[in-house]
Amino acid sequence: MKILSVTSECAPLVKTGGLADVAGALPGALGDLGIEVKTLLPGYPAVIKALGKTRTVLKEPDLMGGPARVLAGKLGALDLLVLDAPHLFDRAGSIYLGHDGRDWPDNPERFAALSWVAATLAQTGSWRPDLVHCHDWQAGLVPYYLRDSGIPTILTIHNIAFHGLAPPTKVPAMRLDLDDFTPDGFEFWGQVSALKAGLVWATKLTTVSPTYAAELMRPEFGMGLDGVMRARRSDLSGVLNGIDKDTWNPATDPLIAPYKTAKGKGRNKTALRKAMGLPESDGPLCVVVSRLTEQKGFDLLQGALGTLLGRGGQLALLGSGDAGLEYAFHAAAGDRNVAVRIGYDEALAHRLIAGGDAILVPSRFEPCGLTQLYGLRYGTIPVVALTGGLADTVINASPAALDKGVATGLQFSPTTTEALSGALDRLCDLWEAPKIWAQMQKNAMSQPVGWENSAKAYAALYDSLKG
Ligand code: ADP
Ligand code: GLC
Repeated sequence: MKILSVTSECAPLVKTGGLADVAGALPGALGDLGIEVKTLLPGYPAVIKALGKTRTVLKEPDLMGGPARVLAGKLGALDLLVLDAPHLFDRAGSIYLGHDGRDWPDNPERFAALSWVAATLAQTGSWRPDLVHCHDWQAGLVPYYLRDSGIPTILTIHNIAFHGLAPPTKVPAMRLDLDDFTPDGFEFWGQVSALKAGLVWATKLTTVSPTYAAELMRPEFGMGLDGVMRARRSDLSGVLNGIDKDTWNPATDPLIAPYKTAKGKGRNKTALRKAMGLPESDGPLCVVVSRLTEQKGFDLLQGALGTLLGRGGQLALLGSGDAGLEYAFHAAAGDRNVAVRIGYDEALAHRLIAGGDAILVPSRFEPCGLTQLYGLRYGTIPVVALTGGLADTVINASPAALDKGVATGLQFSPTTTEALSGALDRLCDLWEAPKIWAQMQKNAMSQPVGWENSAKAYAALYDSLKG
């Protein structure tokens, strides 16, 4: 079985969020099942730089405004196809945003080009995949370009909030047919939506957790596309993300003081407190590693923080995003028990997750979420909102779960300041019961958070589509 995976980011080469982790780890897990995966991604400067020996497998003299070629290369376990199109991808700064903090104005063409090349490779390349697995709106046009090819496509929705919108004047430049600019096609409130094209034309749709699959069909979560999701409900399934258990392994992690049982967290906590300038304390050290956006719900923590601090707890936060939230956490760091780092720092993320007692994920919606999974693996108790993948991966410390000794974390609902505050209070109660806490850590660390089960689910889906 041969799969072409199409993605706009891929760890360890280029990452803004969980999509990169998934695109980077899933091919290896599928490889273990005998499935051959090649990953097509844009040739951003960091990607071109990381590539060793390559060979050219496709040339396009005019790809949406300039010449382009596809380079084949390898990086670790990843078999890469890199779209080298300097006019689209050779630019400094964020892969999605210009220097003014807004989307690059040519994002529609940039990712239409990626999708176009995926479709071209699938149909005319020397290596022909059995199907194309597309990720998010950046690959949303692949199913459209392949609509008459007979090649099956899967679109995985990592986040339905991002639609990939373009003004209708771009229809010709994006090599789309104006006849399909309709509510049944890729039109979305007067704009072109690359995501909607994928939702309409892909053979099958998946998303990254079973609960989010159900939520997507409801107006509160569908972001205006819940009707499309309902229309395609029989083709939609939820496959839970796994994590890369080599990169995120407390027993071997080179970025921390490695440990096999939760007892080994102590040294990491001491080091973390020192690094973040936090005093010693008897309360639980809560950590956050996140984008700071509306989705993630950290505005709620502003109001709930007093509960944690009032019971002797501490907060260490690493994140970046909305200026207002960054500013608010800077201000919160005036308290000696709150430490804040604004920025993106892979190594510090590992140290926080290893050294923290609990990790907070109060998202308003969360398709899957990966940091609660890292928390589980590192014995760092997740405190999560009851939504999406957070609902599917954490066993709430309810009286029944505690009684049976199976709890792994805390869930709260609704996603409000009051409910989060209540969860932090409960967390402190559990912290004050060391036996129960130790049992939860043990349970957490033995959860199956890798790709084993989900890679099998994807393999079964691929099998069902193979012509
Ligand atoms: P999302 O993709 O919505 O941002 P996920 O939980 O799926 O959420 O994935 C986020 C990924 O990005 C995780 O690997 C997390 O560790 C990482 N991450 C987020 N913010 C930061 C940061 N400021 N520094 C380092 N890593 C971060
Ligand atoms: C998105 C979602 C996140 C998910 C990730 C990987 O960024 O916001 O919940 O874990 O994609 O699928």
